[in-house]
Amino acid sequence: MQFEELLTKLTEQLTNGTFAGGTISQPRMKSDELKRVRLKPVELRGALHIQFEYQYERVLNHENIAIENVYDELENLLNRFRQVHAEFTNETVHVQISKKFKVMWKGKKTASTKEVDLSHNRKKNYLLDEETPYPFLVRLGVQTPDGKVRNQHQDKFRQINRFVEFIDDSLSYLPKDKTIRILDFGSGKSYLTFALYHYLHIEKGLDIKVTGLDLKKEVIEECCKIAEDLGYEYLEFLVGDINDYNEETSVDMVVTLHACDVATDMALGRAVKWGAKVILSVPCCQHELFSQIKAPALDVMLQHGLIKERFSSLATDSIRAELLSLVGYEAQLLEFIDVEHTPKNVLIRAYHTGRKPAADEFTRYEEFRDMLHAKPFLEKELEDLLNQ
Ligand SMILES: C[S@@+](CC[C@H](N)C(=O)[O-])C[C@H]1O[C@@H](n2cnc3c(N)ncnc32)[C@H](O)[C@@H]1O
Repeated sequence: MQFEELLTKLTEQLTNGTFAGGTISQPRMKSDELKRVRLKPVELRGALHIQFEYQYERVLNHENIAIENVYDELENLLNRFRQVHAEFTNETVHVQISKKFKVMWKGKKTASTKEVDLSHNRKKNYLLDEETPYPFLVRLGVQTPDGKVRNQHQDKFRQINRFVEFIDDSLSYLPKDKTIRILDFGSGKSYLTFALYHYLHIEKGLDIKVTGLDLKKEVIEECCKIAEDLGYEYLEFLVGDINDYNEETSVDMVVTLHACDVATDMALGRAVKWGAKVILSVPCCQHELFSQIKAPALDVMLQHGLIKERFSSLATDSIRAELLSLVGYEAQLLEFIDVEHTPKNVLIRAYHTGRKPAADEFTRYEEFRDMLHAKPFLEKELEDLLNQ
């Protein structure tokens, strides 16, 4: 069988309603970060999709692909992998692709009929395991001493895991030849600061120094005590205002999680000036633009307070991402955790790559800003760099 014939036949069988589940495995290159892909049919908004679950070394991602796009994804994957195993209602198929792309297709009819389960249930597969007791999670009360996640902390556990995934994704941007300097601005009770320390230092063995900064003295005192109890010697907590914190000259990673309103912008401004390679920021209470926005063309939307509030938040975060990308960062807005768990759900992820923006990117930003009559705090913070 030719390779193209395989793609056509497999696409047809995966999308005709008889597909129950399968796996694509055996990467051609050992160095391929993607190790295997699991496939299953799912129904979304009444239409059949194929869920591709991509298993990287330590991260699992999902994508639900509409049937008209399955061929392209298979083509992409089968250029990288040499084996396919697929179960259909009445048949099991095993495909082997040789180094030179010769295809062996073996189909075996099965006696019993397999059920096709179209439910869209995401399998939990976390970087922090659900059964293993982690000292910091036990100490913070998220887990019981034997490692069970307490019911009232299930959302927190999910949030911590999601955050650890983002940390893991950013590893390649962090320096390898020196102590990695990390700041968490507005660290509050510091669940995520402890998680960050645990993952990077204890699990990954990286040489790091982490500082959590917050305005609240009592909360910081408690965090200091927990860090001491856990023996986390490279983690410190300080009482202070982001705006007055000028102790550093160079920082590698800046995290701000739910720092309210323009506190996020202060932190982003600092991060950029210190040349942070990685910025992870989940903003909240994005009020700044709400009082500034004036855009008659959008009055159909903005006449409604609720919509104006949401629009202001989204515009604020879009402006933040755009400004970061104008000063040398690859910036993306990503979903932090599922919407049902919190409305504070946008994560700004920015990696410093030194990208040079095209001239029309500045114009695009200015036109958007002026259309809204916005005077973004972060723009003022980054004024010097933007004018260079
Ligand atoms: C909503 S809490 C989030 C805490 C933690 N990062 C989390 O995600 O669980 C926001 C924290 O930011 C702190 N904060 C707000 N403005 C600040 C500022 N200007 N300087 C330092 N901390 C600030 C508050 O004291 C509060 O603890």
